[in-house]
Amino acid sequence: MNNLKIILFITILLPFCFTTKKLQLFQLVTRHGDRSPLHALPNTDTEWYCYLTQYQYPSDTFDDKIQLSRLYREKFPLNEQVLEGNCSIGQLTMKGFEQHKSLGSNLRTKLILETNFLQDKLDQSETYVRSTDIRRTLLSAQGLLEGLYPTTTPQQSDDIDVVTIHTIDDQTDNMYPNSDVCPRISQLEEEIKNSDGYKNELKQMQDVTNELNKIFGTTDLGGLSLSNIYSTIVCYQSHSKELPSGITENMIDRLHKHHTWKLNYLYGNPEFSKIASVSFLKDLLESMLFKINSQNDYKFMLYSGHESTLCPLIQLLGITTVDEIPYAGHLSFQLLKEYKKYYVRITFNDQVLTIPQCKLEDCPFNIFYKLVMELIPNSFSTICKTK
Ligand SMILES: *[C@@H]1O[C@H](CO)[C@@H](O)[C@H](O)[C@H]1NC(C)=O
Repeated sequence: MNNLKIILFITILLPFCFTTKKLQLFQLVTRHGDRSPLHALPNTDTEWYCYLTQYQYPSDTFDDKIQLSRLYREKFPLNEQVLEGNCSIGQLTMKGFEQHKSLGSNLRTKLILETNFLQDKLDQSETYVRSTDIRRTLLSAQGLLEGLYPTTTPQQSDDIDVVTIHTIDDQTDNMYPNSDVCPRISQLEEEIKNSDGYKNELKQMQDVTNELNKIFGTTDLGGLSLSNIYSTIVCYQSHSKELPSGITENMIDRLHKHHTWKLNYLYGNPEFSKIASVSFLKDLLESMLFKINSQNDYKFMLYSGHESTLCPLIQLLGITTVDEIPYAGHLSFQLLKEYKKYYVRITFNDQVLTIPQCKLEDCPFNIFYKLVMELIPNSFSTICKTK
């Protein structure tokens, strides 16, 4: 019996052990967590309360440890903002923070406890964090790090670790479709919205639009798009808030389908997905190349962004059609090595995605490299020029 086990081990399991690909670099692109609405529904007075605050400390030194003597915080006064209550628009909620914390703690199991891929304690020479310069994505990144590297209460005399979150001005950030960087983006978006396909879709939605106008007492949905209304309804549902009366399950279903349709119509436009995300995809590829050429020690790189960060990337790689990206939805690019060969594994919410050009779950790096290089234009300024 024992012999049989040994034979089994040698013939079946042992080769398997030696052929596993070893993780080299884990890049994770996330959507922020649950947030307050970006818009108030017209003529409604639903109250939104937020509990997550953030304490800050001004300093003119750039130290990796600080001793705190005083902190500052923002407080949004009651009922003086777009939303009734004390949330600012699009503010990360406690629920959203927890979503990222639990994502971080799942990663802790995978990357630290089970495999020792990362060190137990946050080491900024191996963990890199980048975020768009928006409060909810900055805070989402912090939530994820709290889960990945839980902190213990510091002693009174301890210096506190300072963690850098790399952020880029929104005039130059490439983590979302940015018309400041690429003026063609807003022009193409206009063209897409003026296309027959888009106009036809709005016509199909006219009955829902009419009903919503009746419910809100508006003629133009108060300037909101159907997608704006849908994403606000998602906030109501996420916080079990009562919707304005008259909004039915069927309308919500229609709005959901419309929103998904719009995401695919916009980001499924090959030119749009390209100008919206190829520059960021290039950043991801470069990090892999740096790793392969041993030019940096990063092992985990987090990019905290938006639905508009993930959607065009997924479309650009031709992986799948996009449904809406859930809060804290995440796309990973894992660089693996087996003997001297490198592979790229891409997952969306922990499901492995297959790039059509690869047909294999783990895409050989040279194929992935070729695929991305073919997408990268010779000149960004040329593809970004308005026509
Ligand atoms: C927002 O209001 C709630 C309810 O009054 C309160 O508990 C909470 O502390 C407030 N949050 C902030 C950040 O002011």
